[in-house]
Parts: sequence; C-alpha cells; structure tokens
Amino acid sequence: MKRKWNVFVTRMLPEPAINYLKAYCEVEINPEDRVLSKAELLAAVKGRDAVLSQLTDIIDDAVFAAAGPQCKVFANYAVGYNNVDLEAAARRGVMITNTPDVLTDATADLAWTLLFATARRVVEADDFLRKGKYQGWGPMLLLGVEITGKTLGVIGTGRIGQNFASKAKAFSMKVLYNDIHRNLDFEKTTGAVYADKETLLRESDFVSLHVPLLPATRHLIGAPEFYIMKNTAILINTSRGPVVNEQELVAALKSGQIWGAGLDVFENEPELTPGLAELTNVVILPHVASATVETRINMGLVAARNIVAAMQGEVPPNLVNR
Ligand code: GLV
Ligand code: GLV
Repeated sequence: MKRKWNVFVTRMLPEPAINYLKAYCEVEINPEDRVLSKAELLAAVKGRDAVLSQLTDIIDDAVFAAAGPQCKVFANYAVGYNNVDLEAAARRGVMITNTPDVLTDATADLAWTLLFATARRVVEADDFLRKGKYQGWGPMLLLGVEITGKTLGVIGTGRIGQNFASKAKAFSMKVLYNDIHRNLDFEKTTGAVYADKETLLRESDFVSLHVPLLPATRHLIGAPEFYIMKNTAILINTSRGPVVNEQELVAALKSGQIWGAGLDVFENEPELTPGLAELTNVVILPHVASATVETRINMGLVAARNIVAAMQGEVPPNLVNR
C-alpha cells in the first residue's frame, strides 16, 4: 500500500480540521500551544509532504529547503500570507494556499466592534465602573462620538472591506472608498462613492483599513495622513500592523490630531509601540478578528481541504501562487 501523506501542523487547531486531515494523512502537531522557534520549525518540517502553517510562522526559503523537494504545499491558516515568501515558494515549486471567505464576516464584524468600542469609549467606561469610580449618571460622563449618519471611509475593498462597508447601511452612513481600482458593482449595491485617498481622509469620520500588507501599503497611514484627517476622526485597523506607522499614530493620538483608534494588529506584533497602551483613546485587541468558534473551525477545514487536494494532485481551491 502506498504510504500515507505526512503532514505537519505548526499549532493546535480546532478538532474538525485535524480529524479531516487524519482521514487522509499522517498528522503531527506542534505539541505546545506556542509559536515554534525558527530552529524548531526547520527541524519539524523536514521530510513532510505538506505543512499547515500560521501567520506567526515566517515561511521563507530556508523553511522550504528544510522541508525538502517532496513537499508540495504550505496551507497558511489565515487569509493574509505576507508571512510567506511567494517567490521562494515558486522557485521551489511549493504551492501556497490561504483561507479566504470563511473569515470575511467575522473580520468585518470585529472592525465594527472596534469602531463602536472606540467611538463610545466602551473599554474605558467598563474600566471606570470596575474601578469603583461610578457615582451615578452624569450629563458629562464619558461622552463619545455619534456613529449613525456619519461618513465612513473604507481603504481596501476586497472581500472584507466590501463586507464591512455593506454593513454601514444599518447606520445610515455615507460610505467613501479607496482602492487601486474602482468597483462599479460594489458602488451599485452599497451606494459607496469612490474617493482619492486624500479626499477620503479629509471627509471621513471613521477610516477603516482593509488592504493586504505589500510594499505599496506599508506605512500607508502615517503623519501626513493624520494631518489631513479630522481631529474628531477614528482610525480602525484590522488588516496588518505595518500598514500604519505606529509611532506616528501614538503621536497623533497624544496631540489630539485624531480622536481615537481601534486596533487589532500592530506594527511589531506582539510588541506595542511604547506609549500606545497608556492612551485611553485607543482600543487594542490581540489580533482576534477571525477568532470565533465557527470561523476558526471553518478556516481549519479550508486549510485541510487545500492540503488534501494538493496531495491528490489537484489544484487546491485556494492556491495563491498559481
Ligand atoms: C488574519 O490576520 C488573517 O490573515 O487571517
Ligand atoms: C480578504 O479576504 C479580502 O479580500 O479582504
């Protein structure tokens, strides 16, 4: 009998994904719930036919070399794949897959969660109460900014940006969007209006980022952009940390150049720029946009199906380096 395919999973995932893989493959999983060191990763991938990786694993040429020429696919458990060197993968003939679609709602919903939490000072208010500071209702207590009827600026209108923007209708918001291309279908279905970046930044009350991390989107938002934004504006980032110059963000939040920020991602994750966590006008979350039970199960199943398809000699459904 033909030997079973040998798959390494770099971090424990919800059981359905593991069970799916085990029906077709020998599966070994990182026994510890932590990111592997580079040395551990290089040792662990050796001789595998496929690897199920996390966005916290740096998958570069050294990793492909360590895996060996029999290794066909790295299935990244994320929609983003900026942690993977696609050129090295292409040179080595390794297929790379991601987990789009199944996390679109969860991620867009978390961007909304951050928008509400920041605008209405939810975390600050909760903390105030828990610290025993609440003396009763007050006309000036913890005033936030209104959401309904305001202008929403969406930068990056892929799957997640479009989903996020479509939900603005419930709050009667005017939606401006910016992307490298205009999307007439999206405009028609949501009423969103295309704007150049400067106009969007100048006119929006909320600016939400939904671009992938690429050389062209690194530090897309920094001091020049904060200068253009309203001083009542709120920045939301659920994309990738380096899209924002975090040091310049801290300065803009301190000086009141913008009103607040809601962040799920950081420039040097898991490190935070000094001063950021001390600010009360930010809501900071530990990269949990796709973290619902349902979505994480589905991401696991998508990654597992991509691996099994590759093993069976098919083109995996979510191949990103065709
Ligand atoms: C999470 O950040 C992802 O890319 O899925
Ligand atoms: C990711 O799913 C995106 O296209 O926004």
